[in-house]
Parts: sequence; structure tokens; C-alpha cells
Amino acid sequence: MALQDKDRIFTNLYGYQLWNLPAARARGDWDNTKALLEKGRDAIIQEIKDSGLRGRGGAGFPTGMKWSFMPKESKDGRPSFLVINADESEPGSCKDREIIRHDPHKLIEGALVAGFAMGARAAYIYIRGEYIREAETLFAAVAEAYDAGLVGKNASGSGYDFDVFVHRGAGAYICGEETAMIESIEGKKGQPRLKPPFPAGAGLYGCPTTVNNVESIAVAPTILRRGAGWFASFGRENNKGTKLFQISGHVNKPCVVEEEMSIPFSELIEKHCGGIRGGKDNLLAVIPGGSSVPLVPADQIWDAPMDFDGLRAVGSGLGTAAVIVMDKSTDIVRAISRLSYFYKHESCGQCTPCREGTGWMWRVMERLRKGDADVQEIDMLWNVTKQVEGHTICALGDAAAWPIQGLIRHFRPEIERRIAEKGGALREAAE
Ligand code: NAI
Ligand code: SF4
Repeated sequence: MALQDKDRIFTNLYGYQLWNLPAARARGDWDNTKALLEKGRDAIIQEIKDSGLRGRGGAGFPTGMKWSFMPKESKDGRPSFLVINADESEPGSCKDREIIRHDPHKLIEGALVAGFAMGARAAYIYIRGEYIREAETLFAAVAEAYDAGLVGKNASGSGYDFDVFVHRGAGAYICGEETAMIESIEGKKGQPRLKPPFPAGAGLYGCPTTVNNVESIAVAPTILRRGAGWFASFGRENNKGTKLFQISGHVNKPCVVEEEMSIPFSELIEKHCGGIRGGKDNLLAVIPGGSSVPLVPADQIWDAPMDFDGLRAVGSGLGTAAVIVMDKSTDIVRAISRLSYFYKHESCGQCTPCREGTGWMWRVMERLRKGDADVQEIDMLWNVTKQVEGHTICALGDAAAWPIQGLIRHFRPEIERRIAEKGGALREAAE
């Protein structure tokens, strides 16, 4: 069942209306937020758990459960914090940008509700450095919320004091990793920490901290207003709710759209994107969840449900739901090689398998792209990806390995063809 307009949470996704406070109030934001808080901390967390909301930043960790990890009371005088990850840098991802551009008050109200539920003293919204206009909008929206008494002392008349700070990043992809983000807010070099301890135990300034994605926080007030059962009525078991999909690449109409979780890929593309460029038969492959998940060939993606389990079943993942569509004009080896370069460039260099492995993988990918490699290097590259995967401090190592694994798994004949063609051409030239 496709989503009806009345079921959409982000009713200003395309900016047809203003983002400012009066317009946001007219859309229902900040409507008696005090009453939401009066439900109490435990009831709010339970409602989010019952809704089935899973983290929208890519990993899909259950949001209500994450909030419940925060201490109920401060034992040693340490405050608790909420950090909101707006460092959206995953190639293909651009949904949080649209929320901040056009619906920033959903995010700020969500920060208050979530922060209250987990007993946080303040929220830090960490926005990627390249989002300059979006940061301006966010700063202005936060100022509006302070001026109206919605956040700050006695936030929304609730008796709860809650601050919201906006922190701009400086353009490093790795600062989207939650512990690197915490380091960056603390004024240090953005490098991931070893986990555990998880941030709920020792996060920002050593205090209990929850890091949530923009979309996860922005949907919370609507879930509380409409009820967990309403949100959970979309999607299917373990994959509930509505979701922002971002479709780019070789479709007739690339877009960001809120849809029901588990919508089949074909329906998403036909209904919202005007179909594949050149028709369904022209589809080559899709990266369905942002560049960190493996590609899926056309025949396996077409009927797949767009959710955590449906995409795992075809060897990939939902990730950020950034759907990168590639038609048959794509040089698939070159495309994956370009992604390898991205991960090599963005590796923070802290651990050896990632620092050395990403460079290795990219250099071999480049040789495969040019057809300059030996056939046995395909297996060697596969082995290198296996040595990087699971052997690094943060998920960037896995993210660098998986696209290459997807390429070799599904497009090995294409790689071999290039090597054979180049070898043949060289032999011809030598004769
Ligand atoms: P993760 O699975 O390690 O953690 C997810 C969240 O759950 C974290 O907040 C973590 O602290 C929490 N968590 C996990 N196990 C826990 C436990 N036992 N106790 C307490 N908390 C626990 O994944 P990670 O590294 O945070 O994110 C990886 C994903 O991020 C990738 O799958 C990728 O899709 C996505 N990503 C998104 C980007 C974006 O621009 N939105 C950029 C790069 C990656
Ligand atoms: Fe840094 Fe890469 Fe290690 Fe992550 S995996 S900590 S990005 S070197």
C-alpha cells in the first residue's frame, strides 16, 4: 500500500510553504508540546519503542531502546546530552538536508521531546560544513524557538530547561561516525573512538550521550501525537513506519520522497521517479542504501521490498535509503573505483587495515578499470576486502570493502572481459 498524503509526516518536504515558526505552527508543529512532555519520560520512550522506529542514519538500531540506555538519574552530577547527527555525507544521501531546509522546527521540537525523554540537558545539532544555507536556516529556526520560549529555560512551559546548540562541521566524512562527531564537538581531531564504551555510558565530555540521526528525531513528535500504532501500521514486522527515500541517478525524475517502509523498488521508481531512463530493461544495477552498501543487479532489485530485511535478503542493506540507480550506460567498474577513491580519501588513517587497505583497494580497482591487472588480482582484491572488513575501529572499513565485494560478486565477467580485451590488444600490438 503506497502512502497517502494525509499520512506523510514531512508535509513541507519540497518547500512549497515557508519553513519559519508561524508556518511550522500552521502545519501542526509545536502544538501543545507541553502536553507531549507531560506524558512522562518512560511513557515517551515506551511509545517510541512500540512504534518500531529504527535509526534512520543507516544502522537501523531501535531508537526507543537507544533512548532507554540513558541513565534515569545523574549519579555523579554529570549532565546527559543528545547529539543530533546532521553530518549527512554518505554519497547519495540528501534527506536530512531537505528536513533542515524546509521543516527545521520538526527537528527542534523533536530534539526537545527526545532530550526530555532521555533526561538530556541540551542537544547539539552537528551539521556538515558544506550545508551552508541549511545551517543558516537552522540557526534562525533555533533563534525563533528560543524567542518563543519553546526551548531554553522552562522549555514550552514544561518546567524543563533544555538548550539547543548548532555546531558546524568542517567537511570530513568521518565526523558523521558518532564518536568522531563527539570528538569534533569537543574541539579535537575527528577520529572515531573504540566502542564500547558506547556513548550512552561515556559520550560527549565523558557524559552519557545519545547520538541520533536528523530524521529519527524529526519524526518523534508526530509519532507521539498520532500514536505508536499509527506509525507501526506502515511497513511490516521489524521494518515499520514511513521513510524518506532519496532516488538519484538514471531515473527520469530523481527525487526525495516520503513513502511507506517496505514499498517494492519497482513501485518507488515507477510512482515517484517516472521510471528508469530508457525503460525497465535498461536498468543495470542499484546501490539501494547510500554508497556504503553493496550494489544489487537489476533482476534482483526489481521486486525487492525497500526495507532492512528485504534488502539484506538480496545481499545489500537499506542504509540511509539513498537509492543510486545505474542504467546500462554506466561503466560499473569505474563507478565502484570512484567510490573506492572516496573511502581512501576520507579514511581518518587511525587504524592500519583501513588506512593501508583503502589505498590498496583503490589502486587495484583502478588497474581493473583500465584492464591492466591480471585475472588472479580479482581474487586477491576480494581477499583484501575480507581483511579490511570487520578489522577496523569504525564502519568506514566495511563501507570501503562492501561495494567492491558487490562488484566482484555480480560483475566479475565484466572485469574479466576488460582484462582479456586489454591483454588481447597488447598482444596484437606486439605481433
Ligand atoms: P552501529 O551499528 O555500530 O551503531 C548504531 C547505533 O547503535 C550507534 O548509535 C551505537 O552507539 C548504537 N549501538 C549499537 N550497539 C549498541 C550496544 N550494544 N549498546 C548501546 N548502543 C549500541 O553503526 P554505526 O557505525 O553507528 O553506523 C553505520 C551506518 O551508518 C552504516 O550502516 C551506514 O549506512 C551509515 N552511514 C550513514 C551516513 C550518513 O550520511 N547518514 C554516512 C556514513 C555511514
Ligand atoms: Fe579511521 Fe578508517 Fe579506522 Fe574508521 S576504520 S577509525 S576511518 S582508519
